[in-house]
Amino acid sequence: MLRQPRQKDDADGAVFPGYPEGGCRLRRPRQKNDADGAGVVHGVPAIMSRVLGGYFITLEGPEGSGKTTQAHRLEARLREAGVPVLYTREPGGTQIGDRIRQMLLDPGSCGLDAHAEFLLYAAGRAQHMAEKITPALDRGLTVISDRFMDASIAYQNYGRGLDKDALRGINAFATHKRIPDLTVILMIPVAEGLKRAINTPKEGHVTGVGDRIEQETIEFHQRVADGYRALAAAEPDRFVTIDAAVPLAELTDTI
Ligand code: TMP
Repeated sequence: MLRQPRQKDDADGAVFPGYPEGGCRLRRPRQKNDADGAGVVHGVPAIMSRVLGGYFITLEGPEGSGKTTQAHRLEARLREAGVPVLYTREPGGTQIGDRIRQMLLDPGSCGLDAHAEFLLYAAGRAQHMAEKITPALDRGLTVISDRFMDASIAYQNYGRGLDKDALRGINAFATHKRIPDLTVILMIPVAEGLKRAINTPKEGHVTGVGDRIEQETIEFHQRVADGYRALAAAEPDRFVTIDAAVPLAELTDTI
């Protein structure tokens, strides 16, 4: 429980001097997949991993492109090949980020202002970066993130029309200017992907109804897909675009 510092008018009249060492009172148990936990290091000696540095891969795409399935398959293949790897996602990836995710995707948040929406994604990203991605990369892990900063350009700039330079500036602030080494965009025709996304059961999501973003208009989702195409064209060295409208196994092999 978070204890409240005592106030001046508490019963004994004393002013609480503050916690001597400051910081948060609420300790959460370590999770199996924490970047600093034993679960993800897989025997990489700390000194080696510091020398090697990690490789940062992100997967992006419009709704229903199968990113999450492919991210997990890529994770499994790398692990089989002996590469120490961490799977994570945005929004989410940390306990705080998962709370933000819930707020963002709940259709009950339908009055959310577009600027506020972006800032919530960016806040989750800052926490994700500090708590999970940077420590994992520093230890030499390959990090696979299911969505990251480019999603904000596709959804909040191309989709919502927010100013691209402002978003880029805040993204850079949230990520301490770290960008992915490789970004794979899985492309699928928008209507087909949306139908798939809305009908695929997942947590915090009513099957057949979709989450707050999936419930946007088809024109919005079309602009998002155009945004991803534009991002890939502008930075061909970082982005690889793959046609995701093919059988799952074929797509896995391509990736
Ligand atoms: P997903 O986990 O199913 O991809 O859901 C995340 C949703 O959030 C998806 O609709 C894309 C959206 N999103 C943004 O609008 N901006 C962002 O910065 C990120 C990371 C995701």
